[in-house]
Amino acid sequence: MIILESVSEIRRVLKDTPGSIGFVPTMGALHMGHEALIKKSKIDNDVTVVSIFVNPAQFNDLKDFKSYPDTFKEDVEKLKNLGVDFIFNPKASEIYLEEDNIRVSDIIESKLIEGEKRPGHFDGVLTVVLKLFNILNPDRAYFGEKDFQQLSLVRKMTKSLFLNIEVVSVPTLRDEKGLPFSSRNQKLSSKGLKAAQEVAAIFSQSTSKKDFIDKFKNMKFSHEGIDLEYVEEQWGRILTVYKVEGVRILDNRELKHENSH
Ligand code: PAF
Repeated sequence: MIILESVSEIRRVLKDTPGSIGFVPTMGALHMGHEALIKKSKIDNDVTVVSIFVNPAQFNDLKDFKSYPDTFKEDVEKLKNLGVDFIFNPKASEIYLEEDNIRVSDIIESKLIEGEKRPGHFDGVLTVVLKLFNILNPDRAYFGEKDFQQLSLVRKMTKSLFLNIEVVSVPTLRDEKGLPFSSRNQKLSSKGLKAAQEVAAIFSQSTSKKDFIDKFKNMKFSHEGIDLEYVEEQWGRILTVYKVEGVRILDNRELKHENSH
């Protein structure tokens, strides 16, 4: 496994690498959800590249950016064990050039739902994903369904800008209680984790936005300070963010119909 930090180096090495390239973009703090993306890329491609880059442009909250979990050493170990070929780990100055104010946006969807709560977030995501696509030139790129709106926007961008990259999605991976794996879960105390799992359990049983709100209101949680930030129905899915110990937990599921089994 080779770890590279500069744009010119990774471009040079990948240019001489034969076969198809699968790309898994990450911000590190790797968990089972990332592992599922990497395993899929390894099956589909000759070479797998994982980027680890905490993208400053997608954080609308500086505190959130500064406190984003950093587990680089453990991440490298995991990626080695998974048989990843290349890690791309650039500094911010490699990716954002001086006076770089270029941003990619979907002028409607980037501002909806999660985009409404986190202004500029999706512009930052699309911009870095396009930059990484242009640097690495992969055949396929892998995204989790957990960040459903991100996946939808990346698909739209790829289509709109005629990028020759197949966007492959992988279903959300959950722990034994149904809580989706997320880098941010590492910030929860054990009590917080238990409370998050309690919300995840009622979310999994909810048949609509109203049903989830009702269940949430009537729930006696084992922990104080659990807030429902939003719940929306869109794309045939129910999407939510709730906060536990100040940590935002993002989840979505296909909408179940009351008469379906
Ligand atoms: O989903 C993420 O971890 C990030 O939004 C991504 C796609 C790596 C872009 O920074």
